[in-house]
Amino acid sequence: PRTAAVIPAAGRGVRLGPGTPKALRALGGTPILIHAVRAMAASRAVSLVVVVAPPDGAAEVKHLLDAHALPERTDYLVVPGGETRQESVRLGVETLPEDVAVVLVHDAARPLVPVDTVDAVAGAVRDGAPAVVPALPLADTVKEVEPAGTPGESERVVATPVRARLRAVQTPQGFERATLERAHAEVAVDGEGATDDAGMVERLGFPVVVVPGHEEAFKVTRPLDLVLAEAVLARRRA
Ligand code: C5P
Repeated sequence: PRTAAVIPAAGRGVRLGPGTPKALRALGGTPILIHAVRAMAASRAVSLVVVVAPPDGAAEVKHLLDAHALPERTDYLVVPGGETRQESVRLGVETLPEDVAVVLVHDAARPLVPVDTVDAVAGAVRDGAPAVVPALPLADTVKEVEPAGTPGESERVVATPVRARLRAVQTPQGFERATLERAHAEVAVDGEGATDDAGMVERLGFPVVVVPGHEEAFKVTRPLDLVLAEAVLARRRA
């Protein structure tokens, strides 16, 4: 049975500022998405990478993959995505061939995840976990707030969860294929959809196993993250 990686890359990345969609921005001269694809293909476990492109950008993303050197033992597919991250993941999973039994879902916005983290997630699923997340402890204390009722009003803190029990979760998140498909078929999520695939599996009542994440698997979200990503890459190349 094969392991495939699905990379949702259909987001506009508005928090990074105006300009090119986030996944297509350059990092060390190469699009962020290409780094993410290479990070998945670097794992010997992964034999197929599915990139979920912006709904109107599949041809452009295909050209991009063709224009960059990628490991030859891996297959690559591009499919158009949807309105929400959740929909994009579902569309990616739908295209997987029958013989794929393990699925890694990886944000295009995490270009620098080390191969050891990818292997650890895939390995834990192959060892029998229905769902696996890489996670790190938090540096900051986290508060739950009540949203301001009227514009100009301040938010108020309603709770402070115990920090030692909190984890920041990263990707790739790994799944037994049938479990991920069931989560997407049965779990209804409102609004912007799920921000995390494991959350949908939790709602099914399945166990989600945690493996150690990695600092370099951070998500490139805001402008400062790009500065950090460039520095990490420069250090790797040194
Ligand atoms: O917005 P956020 O940073 O949480 O997005 C995480 C990932 O989901 C990104 O890689 C983004 O491209 C992807 N996404 C998507 N389809 C959407 C929205 C986000 O594939 N409609």
